[in-house]
Amino acid sequence: MGNILVTGGAGFIGSHTCVELLAGGHDIIVVDNLCNSKEASIGRIEKISGKSVKFYKADICCYETMTKIFDENNVDAVVHFAGLKAVGESVRLPLEYYTNNIYGTLILLRVMKEHGCKRIVFSSSATVYGMNNKAPYTEDMPTSATNPYGYTKVMIEQILRDVCTADEEFSVVALRYFNPIGAHKSGLIGEDPNGIPNNLVPYIAQVAIGRLEQLSVYGDDYDTPDGTGVRDYIHVVDLAAGHVCAIDYAMKHTGFEAVNLGTGKGSSVLEVADAYEKACGKAIPRRIAPRRAGDIATCYADASKAKRLFGWEALSDINEMCADSWNFTKMNPEGIK
Ligand code: NAD
Ligand code: UD1
Repeated sequence: MGNILVTGGAGFIGSHTCVELLAGGHDIIVVDNLCNSKEASIGRIEKISGKSVKFYKADICCYETMTKIFDENNVDAVVHFAGLKAVGESVRLPLEYYTNNIYGTLILLRVMKEHGCKRIVFSSSATVYGMNNKAPYTEDMPTSATNPYGYTKVMIEQILRDVCTADEEFSVVALRYFNPIGAHKSGLIGEDPNGIPNNLVPYIAQVAIGRLEQLSVYGDDYDTPDGTGVRDYIHVVDLAAGHVCAIDYAMKHTGFEAVNLGTGKGSSVLEVADAYEKACGKAIPRRIAPRRAGDIATCYADASKAKRLFGWEALSDINEMCADSWNFTKMNPEGIK
């Protein structure tokens, strides 16, 4: 069992992964500057796990602070979530995205190198499959991007590959997430976006709780069974469990691996809205709106590599994901406080 540094551990996926790492017997140190999360989520991780968490409110871009954190802790491996993630915002603020995501990762890698820490699990994204591949996506497909956020993921994967080439003791697992949704069964941690959500399920959750009026379905003329966009939604707790497997793998292997974390199954916008209606027992009013720029028709994973490498597969279906999202929303109508 190791001492794992979790960057971005107060956020949506990070907080769930902290819970699973603690349950797996690891000790964790969280570094988060709280630019998109609240310190209260650290207390909630502790409450769920019954264990204490060492927390640093710090920016990964600060070399001096990161050096101090690595000096004070014997870090065996890093799980690196910290980053900005809103596609539309990245088009408006490219320099902020490149600085935070890429420069932040470079500082982290430099400090890791100076402290002899050679294992990292990185939060990549299915966005690296770009617009030109056809689902199901396999890890050997060419990567590309259409916006600054996506480019940060493509570039960081390349940086990590190059680090592995230069140092054969280095170990990297780049996890390409599909669409994480849902929440921990306790309802204590979940997705808590600022402002009006961009993503489908957080938006539907706010319609269900009465804070937004109706769902806009972005296009019903795609080449899909019901004309609406198809995505591979994955329960965030399944995703979190995948990180524990990835850390275990990184402890025993060297080199670079990109691995999809998805269910391998697609659901349409209308199927998700229907599942959410069932979960919350209320109607989700909806209207058909124009397509959203940059969207593709269908995106789902070939999830066989994760099964082969880690023995991991997703367990929850879309109904359970919506039920857990609704439970969290009901328990936290104004988010995590
Ligand atoms: P999130 O915003 O909830 O979590 C990211 C955390 O990182 C936040 O707590 C934020 O405060 C912190 N952070 C950001 N910049 C930082 C910095 N410079 N220093 C320290 N902390 C910093 O997002 P999430 O959904 O949990 O996503 C985690 C990671 O997974 C991100 O890298 C994201 O790009 C990636 N990802 C997310 C999704 C998704 O749908 N949620 C899909 C694919 C990939
Ligand atoms: C989006 C990002 C992607 C990122 C992912 C996870 C874009 C273009 N892509 O992916 O880079 O990795 O989030 O953060 O932003 N939809 C509606 N109405 C809504 C919201 C969404 O119909 O109000 C539809 C979309 O058209 C899509 C599906 O729901 O078909 C899922 O959308 P979303 O949750 O935003 O995820 P992605 O588009 O897959």
